[in-house]
Amino acid sequence: MAESEDIFLRAKHRTFSGLTEDAEREWTGPFCFIQAADPQLGLMKAWREGDCDGGGDEWAEEVELTKQAVEAVNQLRPRPKFMVLCGDLVHAMPDTPFREGQERDLKAALKGTDPSIPLVFVSGNHDLGNSPTPRTVEQYCNAWGDDYFSFWVGGVLCLVLNSQLFFDASGCPQLKETQETWLEEQLSRASSLSAPKPKHVLVFQHIPLYLKSPDEEDDYFNLQRGVRQNLLNRFKKAGVKAVFSGHYHRNAGGCHSGLDMVVSSAIGCQLGEDTHGVRVVVVTADKVIHRYHSLEQLRDRGMDEDLRKLLQA
Ligand SMILES: [Fe+2]
Repeated sequence: MAESEDIFLRAKHRTFSGLTEDAEREWTGPFCFIQAADPQLGLMKAWREGDCDGGGDEWAEEVELTKQAVEAVNQLRPRPKFMVLCGDLVHAMPDTPFREGQERDLKAALKGTDPSIPLVFVSGNHDLGNSPTPRTVEQYCNAWGDDYFSFWVGGVLCLVLNSQLFFDASGCPQLKETQETWLEEQLSRASSLSAPKPKHVLVFQHIPLYLKSPDEEDDYFNLQRGVRQNLLNRFKKAGVKAVFSGHYHRNAGGCHSGLDMVVSSAIGCQLGEDTHGVRVVVVTADKVIHRYHSLEQLRDRGMDEDLRKLLQA
């Protein structure tokens, strides 16, 4: 990576600088990474005041929590190979008053991340708007890099998706089509016998396919059943091992017929009983093991001992 390169704009041309297939195709043994979601600067105050559409004019708490997360992650040994933020980076929707300030302050908080830990960004509904348009998607890409792309790390293929295009693409049907075509290519390549085979395939997106069970009813926090089933079938066929998401501000998910749907709570505002935290994910030759850690636990004790042992094996 060139030294002058913007650490927030490494996802370009549908790949991620430094984590390309050429550089990272080979399996080199077990490693860990951090999956986090919803720092969502501004939601804590908006939620407390019951004004989630208009509120959110203060975000010092989320900035503090993000800094705590960064410091705890920096201390981990072995170092995580990357940290992925699964969407809702900020609370202010595109073109609303506090957007700029929230994005600026989030970047300032994330700048403390050790330079050896790449930051991977996933777009959430608050980042793009609930019904994204070509313009809101472009604004996101200018601030945080591509909205969908693939990257490789230590022999593992990772797909970052724009789940808002699955949720409501009425304002940008063309973008939905383009992501579809790209995704199909990625998935068929992942299972192709003629290409180098990834050790695992992982997916990152903001909105979970489901919260508990693949056949649950539609609601605000999952993807609609038709879309969900379609993606589940394609992911399974391509050998996707796990889908990591946020959006729910609570921990949830479940493993069904070999595919692990992981729903992680937020760095920022909690909507349930979970703590502010991040998920530590350990990737071994045959497994992807993960556990949510509170920020305090991660700061004071690092990752759980059993996870650390897997990395030494
Ligand atoms: Fe959120």
